[in-house]
Amino acid sequence: MSALTATGISKSFEGLKVLDGAWIDVPEKQIIGLIGPNGAGKSTFLTVVSKFAEPDTGSIYCRDLDVTRRSPEALAQAGIVRTFQIPREFGELSVLDNMMIAAKNQIGESSWRVLVFPTRIAQQDRVIAARAHELLDFLGLSAVKGNAAKNLSGGQKKLLELGRALMTDPFLLLLDEPFAGVAPGLVDVLIEKIHDLNRRGIGFLIVEHNMEAVNALCGSVYVMVRGSILTDGTPQKVSNDPRVLEAYLGGAA
Ligand SMILES: Nc1ncnc2c1ncn2[C@@H]1O[C@H](COP(=O)(O)OP(=O)(O)O)[C@@H](O)[C@H]1O
Ligand SMILES: [Mg+2]
Repeated sequence: MSALTATGISKSFEGLKVLDGAWIDVPEKQIIGLIGPNGAGKSTFLTVVSKFAEPDTGSIYCRDLDVTRRSPEALAQAGIVRTFQIPREFGELSVLDNMMIAAKNQIGESSWRVLVFPTRIAQQDRVIAARAHELLDFLGLSAVKGNAAKNLSGGQKKLLELGRALMTDPFLLLLDEPFAGVAPGLVDVLIEKIHDLNRRGIGFLIVEHNMEAVNALCGSVYVMVRGSILTDGTPQKVSNDPRVLEAYLGGAA
């Protein structure tokens, strides 16, 4: 059984076909890469398979569950969560509150529940806070947990984005360019964190341009060109494929 399977995914915006029969198969507990020239459709593909946008055609399965017409919240509850190329933190809120909110959004806290189950909510808050502290510690963000998120460095914002996704206890994380804008010294740290999470059983689908990071992390990569999957295989195999080189050199998008 695969963690995520998508087949025949097409998506047009105002007549422009951005995805054209794209597909992917992410086995459980693996780290899979998705690479391709700028504008190939990688972010759009993550958006569609995470259900932030509807596909025009195709189907999406989370384990054995057909999630093609489900909401992103339903997908997150099923265990698949994405991060965004541009982190979406709440700038004015503290790092800790950003983590807490990520979990609460999943639980779906409504005001009547707070009124009817005040004790349960307080207990839940303690569990969520403990989890947030544990993850901030793991990500090396404990020292800045009280800071407003907008004051973090680019790399720290990426770590927070990862932390917020982890608050929902996913079995598969979809990361959009997690290494973009991350200072070189922090790249190795982030690689190690992803390896560590993977050893604990979390799978990854990573869109990334940094080939050093892709080589260090991904057993297998998919290459997207003009909204379709051109080929897949080990990072070494695909980077030696003349069609892949041509797609990059030709700036094919
Ligand atoms: N919401 C949208 N409306 C119109 N065009 C879009 C939208 N989202 C993406 N596109 C277009 O789809 C193409 C692929 O974009 P994207 O998925 O961001 O590529 P990549 O992540 O591979 O660089 C681009 O030409 C982009 O302008
Ligand atoms: Mg992109």
